[in-house]
Amino acid sequence: MSDWNFKEIETTIQQEAALLADAKGLEDFRIKYLGRKGLLAQIYAGMGQASPEERPLIGKSANALKVLVEGIVAQKKQSLDGQSRQALTKEKIDVTLPGIHSPLGHQHILTQMIDEICGIFESMGFVVQEGPEIETEFNNFEALNIPVDHPSRDAFDTFYVDTKVVGQKRLLRSHTSPAQIRMMQNHKPPFAVIIPGKVYRPDKVDATHSSMFHQIEGLLVDKDVKFSDLKGLVCVFCQKFFGEKVKMRFRPHFFPFTEPSAEVDIYWKKGWLEIMGCGMVHPKVFAAVDYPKGKYTGLAFGMGIERMVMLKYGINDIRYFFENDVRFLRQF
Ligand code: PHE
Repeated sequence: MSDWNFKEIETTIQQEAALLADAKGLEDFRIKYLGRKGLLAQIYAGMGQASPEERPLIGKSANALKVLVEGIVAQKKQSLDGQSRQALTKEKIDVTLPGIHSPLGHQHILTQMIDEICGIFESMGFVVQEGPEIETEFNNFEALNIPVDHPSRDAFDTFYVDTKVVGQKRLLRSHTSPAQIRMMQNHKPPFAVIIPGKVYRPDKVDATHSSMFHQIEGLLVDKDVKFSDLKGLVCVFCQKFFGEKVKMRFRPHFFPFTEPSAEVDIYWKKGWLEIMGCGMVHPKVFAAVDYPKGKYTGLAFGMGIERMVMLKYGINDIRYFFENDVRFLRQF
């Protein structure tokens, strides 16, 4: 008699079949019985040693097992496929459902205004340039004819930066005017540039002061530039930015790096408000950038952006710009 207990094998097969729960388990089960080295292959291989009487009996039982296992595999495969199809149906995405709304942002009001102001000057032939926020003391003060004893050079009025570079103090620029120096050092006139950027002053923060704010600098250098050119440019700018009917005036003022110098005021609601400083480039500034004496003339102006936007929109606190409260930002 053979060593195989077919009854027991059949019971084991039925027990294992009842536990089959996934495709991997089913495949292991199939290989275990029907595989090349599986149980049935072993039974058939051993038949040669069986007696001639036993051989057909073993063959019959083995065939029965084979049919059983094949039946189980086919049936389980079908039901597992059905299950995964069902799972798919359940997980199906309904593309007609409304999506998750992620609100779209927009440019900050200051960026919009900077673009608008630069655009006005670009339409008059100016080119947008930028300068670094960390500047040398030379570019921020010396080259602009701001003497050592000038109050704006005081540590209370300027952020100085610790630096290892010997002989060159660095600082956070207190205005965009040092970009004028870089422009003149690196380009030969004629040129007309408009330079927007951040500037820094250690002011106590309140409704009208911030330790960081934005300025836009303008510089035009050529031969025979006149104060009337400056007036014309500034007038056109004010009309485009504040409206055709804007009332404005040039008020004499002093800046070390322009001569003559003026401040520009516009009449807004109930009084005159200063919006920019300007003037003709001082000969000492041309000397600082090694331009030949008397060869060029130029005009320059600089304005604070926050202040102009506050005027234009009636915003009464500069801190709104930097608090990132969307209720404020969404209005623009
Ligand atoms: N840099 C000056 C300021 O910050 C403004 C200015 C720029 C004045 C250019 C004249 C010419 O107040």
